[in-house]
Amino acid sequence: MLTYIVLLGPPGAGKGTQSKVLASELDVPHISSGDIFRDNIKNDTPLGRLAHKAISKGELVSDDLTIAMLRERFMQRDCANGAILDGFPRNPVQAEALEELLNSFGGQVNLVLFITSPVKSLIERLAGRWTCQAQGHTYHECFNPPKEKGICDIDGSALYQREDDKAETVLNRIEIYQNQTAPLIKYYDERGILARIDGVESIEKVSAQLMSVLKC
Ligand code: AP5
Ligand code: MG
Repeated sequence: MLTYIVLLGPPGAGKGTQSKVLASELDVPHISSGDIFRDNIKNDTPLGRLAHKAISKGELVSDDLTIAMLRERFMQRDCANGAILDGFPRNPVQAEALEELLNSFGGQVNLVLFITSPVKSLIERLAGRWTCQAQGHTYHECFNPPKEKGICDIDGSALYQREDDKAETVLNRIEIYQNQTAPLIKYYDERGILARIDGVESIEKVSAQLMSVLKC
């Protein structure tokens, strides 16, 4: 069966952290729209230049650019059996586009895992997050520190702090999430494919909750 799983939740809820666990368990790619944008910015591509302004302010990149980017990613062969979608869709327009895209090759969104946490904890997590340059692995200076400060345990690349993790930008991202992305909770709930995950627990306990939903 084709398995397309969407991780939904506010910035800092743990979507990226848990997507990596799920992708490895299910042996499907982890597709993070934020990571693809950041790679484009790092490589100074035309897409990166167009997206950078919105991302640095914590705003959403336009639907046209985002959907075209994801459409191109889905053309790659590794997505044929399924994928973990992290950060896409971000609003109902993108959700409709995703449905159309997956339908075109016989797929559909099977499950939406909605991870949530109180705003105080989201801010604390993003303020202490360190991300790896090479593949976007994430760490937290208190909750999930790397073995060696500033170095990724997995690929040895340098860790950096994201430009959009500054306090004022984080607050803007949370507000945009509430206004533009949160309507997807109802959208997917009405389709009967939404599972709610308590993201306040430790990383390991949240992973255990996700795995138990997958076994249902
Ligand atoms: P994106 O990269 O998707 O950012 P986001 O949604 O704001 O989410 P984050 O990556 O900040 O948080 P996360 O939930 O992945 O948390 P993480 O696992 O890292 O998007 C960035 C920007 O790109 C957007 O603002 C927008 O501009 C643009 N963009 C992207 N997609 C778009 C789209 N579809 N349309 C338009 N624009 C788009 O965890 C956070 C920290 O907490 C880490 O340090 C981690 O170690 C720690 N942590 C995780 N879980 C726990 C836990 N259970 N307990 C303690 N610590 C934990
Ligand atoms: Mg993320």
